[in-house]
Amino acid sequence: MSDENGMAPGQVIKVLAGVTVFIVVAIWLLAKLATSGFNVDAEVMTKEAVAARLKPVGLSVVSDAPPGMRNGEQVFKAICISCHGTGLAGSPKFGDAAAWAPHLAKGWDTLVDHALKGFNAMPAKGGSPDLTDDEVKRAVAYMGNAAGAKFTEPPLGGAGGAAAVADPAVVGKKIYESLCITCHAAGVAGAPKFGDKAAWAIRLKPGLDEVIKIATKGLNAMPPKGGYTGSDAEFRAAVEYMVNNSK
Ligand code: HEC
Ligand code: HEC
Repeated sequence: MSDENGMAPGQVIKVLAGVTVFIVVAIWLLAKLATSGFNVDAEVMTKEAVAARLKPVGLSVVSDAPPGMRNGEQVFKAICISCHGTGLAGSPKFGDAAAWAPHLAKGWDTLVDHALKGFNAMPAKGGSPDLTDDEVKRAVAYMGNAAGAKFTEPPLGGAGGAAAVADPAVVGKKIYESLCITCHAAGVAGAPKFGDKAAWAIRLKPGLDEVIKIATKGLNAMPPKGGYTGSDAEFRAAVEYMVNNSK
C-alpha cells in the first residue's frame, strides 16, 4: 500500500481525520479548563472569601491559649508578624539573621526593654498593651532565636497566666509561699516581717505603687523582685498579698 517516501491517499485521510478529532477535543478541554479556572479565581479573590479563609486561622492562634499564656510563636503570629513578617517600617524581618544582628548585639535586656516600652517606629508591646510582659518576652525570644540567638522563652504556667487574671490573691499567696517566705516570714536581713503591721506601715508611707517600684528594682538585701522571674503583675500580686495580711 505505501512506499518509503509517502502515504497512500487512504492513509492521509485517516491521519487528517484523527488530527481533526484531536484538535476539536483539545480545544473543548482547554475551553472548559479556562472557564472553570476563571470561576475558581473569581471566588478566591473576593475579599469575603479571603477573610473567611483567614478567619479560622487567626482566631485559633489567639483563642487557643488564655490571656497571658500565649507562647512566643502565638504572640508573633497574632501581633508582631504584621510588621516583622515583611520588615515593614524598617523593622528587622523575621528569620533574617543579617537584619537582626545589630539588634541582637544590644543584648536581651535592651531588646526586651525596647519591645515593652517602644523604640523609634517600634510601638510599645507591638501596639498591643493587653499582652503580658512575659508574652512580649516570649515573642522577643521567638523572633531572636529565628535569627540565630539562643534566648530562653519565659515559661508558661508556673504561678502566672490565667490564674493571675482570675484571682491575684491566689497567685500572690502561691508566690509568697514559694519564694518571699524565705526572708519575709522571719524578717531575715531586715526584711519587713509578714503580718507585722508596724513594719509594713512605715514601708507603705510613700504609697503601694512606689513600694512595688522599689521592690521591683531591689533594695539592699532585697533582690530585684525578690528573685521572682515571672511577670510584673504576678510580683505585684505577691506584694499585695503580704501587705493585705499585714494590716
Ligand atoms: C507597627 C510595626 C511593629 C510591630 C507590630 C512590632 N514591631 Fe518590633 N519593631 C518595629 C520596628 C520599625 C523596629 C525597628 C526599630 C529601630 O531599630 O529603630 C522594631 C524593632 C524591634 C525589636 C528590636 C529592638 C532594638 O532595640 O533593636 C524587637 C525586640 C521587637 N521589635 C520586638 C517586637 C515584638 C515582640 C513585637 C510583637 C509583640 C513587635 N516587635 C511588633 C516595628 C514593629
Ligand atoms: C533574700 C531575701 C528576700 C526575699 C527572697 C524577698 N525579699 Fe523582699 N525584702 C527583703 C529585705 C532584706 C527587705 C528590706 C530591704 C531594706 O529596706 O533594706 C525587703 C523589702 C521588701 C519590700 C519593701 C520595699 C520597700 O519599699 O521598703 C517589699 C514590697 C518586698 N520586699 C517584697 C518581696 C516580695 C513580693 C518577695 C517575693 C517575690 C520578696 N520580697 C522576696 C528580702 C527579701
